[in-house]
Amino acid sequence: MNVIVFNSKRSKVPVGAVLLLAVSVVGCGDWGEGSTSSGAERGASTSPIAIAEIDPVVLRRALKSSPLPAPPSDSTNRYADHPEAAELGRRLFFDPRLSGTGEVSCATCHQPDRWFTDGLAKSMGLDTADRHAPTLVDAAHHRWFNWDGRSDSMWGHTIRPIENPLEMGGDRTLLTRLLLEDPELNNRYAKIFGAIPLSLADLPASARPIGDSQSVEAWERLTPVDQDRINRVVANTGKSLAAFQRTLRGGPSRFDRWAEAISKGSDEKSILNASELRGLVLFFGKAECWECHSGPLLSDGEFHNIGIPVAEGLPRDPGRYDGSLLVREDPFNAAGQYSDDVDGRQAILSRGVKRDPDAWGAFRTPTLRGVGRTPPYMHDGSMPDLESVIRFYSTLEGAVQLGHHQESVLSPLDLDAGEIKDLAAFLRTLAGPGPEIDVPESSRGEEPSTE
Ligand code: HEC
Ligand code: HEC
Repeated sequence: MNVIVFNSKRSKVPVGAVLLLAVSVVGCGDWGEGSTSSGAERGASTSPIAIAEIDPVVLRRALKSSPLPAPPSDSTNRYADHPEAAELGRRLFFDPRLSGTGEVSCATCHQPDRWFTDGLAKSMGLDTADRHAPTLVDAAHHRWFNWDGRSDSMWGHTIRPIENPLEMGGDRTLLTRLLLEDPELNNRYAKIFGAIPLSLADLPASARPIGDSQSVEAWERLTPVDQDRINRVVANTGKSLAAFQRTLRGGPSRFDRWAEAISKGSDEKSILNASELRGLVLFFGKAECWECHSGPLLSDGEFHNIGIPVAEGLPRDPGRYDGSLLVREDPFNAAGQYSDDVDGRQAILSRGVKRDPDAWGAFRTPTLRGVGRTPPYMHDGSMPDLESVIRFYSTLEGAVQLGHHQESVLSPLDLDAGEIKDLAAFLRTLAGPGPEIDVPESSRGEEPSTE
């Protein structure tokens, strides 16, 4: 009945986490069989709710979560809202030549018809990636990127999938060569950023600062000036890709249409059905989902350890504990030389990030916009559907607790089957029509690049 793998053992304890060894298991009752008194009050869960009956505090929280405005400006990327940069980014996004084998593009894992995810528990590029691919729709609203927040901008993140041997297995010099070689890309790039001050003859086939020894040696043979020029191409490519990704908007969902109608004083009954409305009341009320899934993005942008169960034999993912270190040391972060605002707010935040032992196993609260379109769920894709996620919150069965600093917000909700259904129904109202993207002709279909 319950799909969550029950496991209280941790197979690997990372250095630095010794203080957090304590492992305990909370809540092991079956969902649906309420073990606390609140079960009795739930007879009402099948009856319709009139707006006037909703607790005004709950209603206010709901209305504050809509609408989603345009993404915040990104001062670290001067080209963030530059239409020509977005157009170059769109072409690059679908171009498998960014990968080492010419077969994997960003769209392999961020597919337009899957709300820019891939439907897999863990993404598949050249090999199986470490985590589940989050959606890119409305992602420009985040402050920290990736499940562990190891990038502080969308553009700064770009080199990671390109050079990750499990994902695209490409490299920054190969990318630079592509932009020099392809007349169309070269032209577009030069119009926005100026001509690339390098020639193909200057560049080895592959060179990068981290990776296989041959590429690293080739990188070390380049002059610092050429290394910087290549890195500049990486940053500009990222800035174009980010400009494109900023255009990926989910658009108004049924929840937004409901919130708009209610804000205008209407007693609207046709936009959300009774079950969805009961789910909404749970979400912003006693289920306390809004504690973390707050604001119009339905994410507080912070990192929490909700202790999702870890499958037997797998090491636990350190999450933000490592992400905090990675973002501070990232040469492509907001405070680095490729940022367009090294003294701005994000740069100050990133410079000040501390590695906190309490952040072990914490992940960024995901947005719930479009969530009905993006199974499976969680950073490891371990929960196949929304009902499984809600059942987890309901029982916390299998939850892994790490030390006494564990998230205090979560306690088993002990929801009945009707409430689980209602909450899931509400979550499915959070997807808008989705972005309409013109997929470049050359990247349609399964054929690998002809290069
Ligand atoms: C092999 C699959 C794969 C490919 C190819 C890939 N990604 Fe991703 N992407 C992922 C995964 C998995 C994550 C989450 C990584 C993590 O948190 O550790 C991710 C995360 C992201 C994020 C962060 C989103 C957020 O909500 O924080 C952005 C932005 C992104 N990818 C953009 C891109 C771009 C641009 C490309 C192409 C240059 C690309 N990705 C290629 C799988 C992929
Ligand atoms: C303490 C903060 C917190 C609270 C409270 C909370 N969540 Fe979450 N939620 C998270 C975090 C963090 C994750 C990602 C965890 C991970 O991947 O390990 C998450 C993941 C999810 C996901 C998976 C989304 C995806 O794209 O993978 C769903 C759905 C979800 N929560 C719904 C809910 C609902 C419904 C409630 C109320 C019953 C709730 N959450 C309460 C923090 C919270």
